Amino acid sequence: MERIICILIGYVFGLFQTGYLYGKIKNIDIRSQGSGNAGSTNALRVMGIKAGIITLLGDCLKCVLAIVTVRLIFADSHPESLPLLSLYAGLGTTLGHNFPFYLKFKGGKGIAVLAGMFLATSWWMTLTGIVVFFGLVLITRYVSVGSLAASLLFAVEIIIYGQMGGFQMTRPLLYEMYAVAVFLAALAWYRHRANIKRLLQGTENKFGSKKK
Ligand code: G3P
Repeated sequence: MERIICILIGYVFGLFQTGYLYGKIKNIDIRSQGSGNAGSTNALRVMGIKAGIITLLGDCLKCVLAIVTVRLIFADSHPESLPLLSLYAGLGTTLGHNFPFYLKFKGGKGIAVLAGMFLATSWWMTLTGIVVFFGLVLITRYVSVGSLAASLLFAVEIIIYGQMGGFQMTRPLLYEMYAVAVFLAALAWYRHRANIKRLLQGTENKFGSKKK
């Protein structure tokens, strides 16, 4: 039951669509321009650097806040599964962000939210996530390549961290956590299916380009 509560709490936080709301203030529907995505990359593409940074920070922060809320609620009653419940909060935030009911379930791709999960999990995961993401974006000039790699890295690092004893949970809870992390990575890849197709065809938007 507490898992569902965590997903629901996350979903509510995830509904705060920073890019879409920022666009609303500027009378721009971010979902009808650029790639049509409601995330920070498209906010940057359509509305400029300030909008991109605000969207990235807002979407990342809502995930951190969802996880902090869950930790505050369950710290005393479920200390043995807190890392897992935190990840469920991250999953819920991703679902709210990617599939907001009030925008006909058309939201973002969940990468800024994933950054919030990196941040809330460990400093070394955050650091490696930043290096891999920005390194690949700089080298390839494709944000989607950085996003795909970062989502994969997240799942791999959750498993490594778990095997290192970083989460202090029983084996079944640990394996459940690995499954959620792998699901999150798979969901990120699924949300990027149009990007993957464009990458394979050589037509993906390069960083800085306004092309669709
Ligand atoms: O995080 C989203 C990014 O990887 C791709 O965004 O707008 O180019 O589809 P976009």
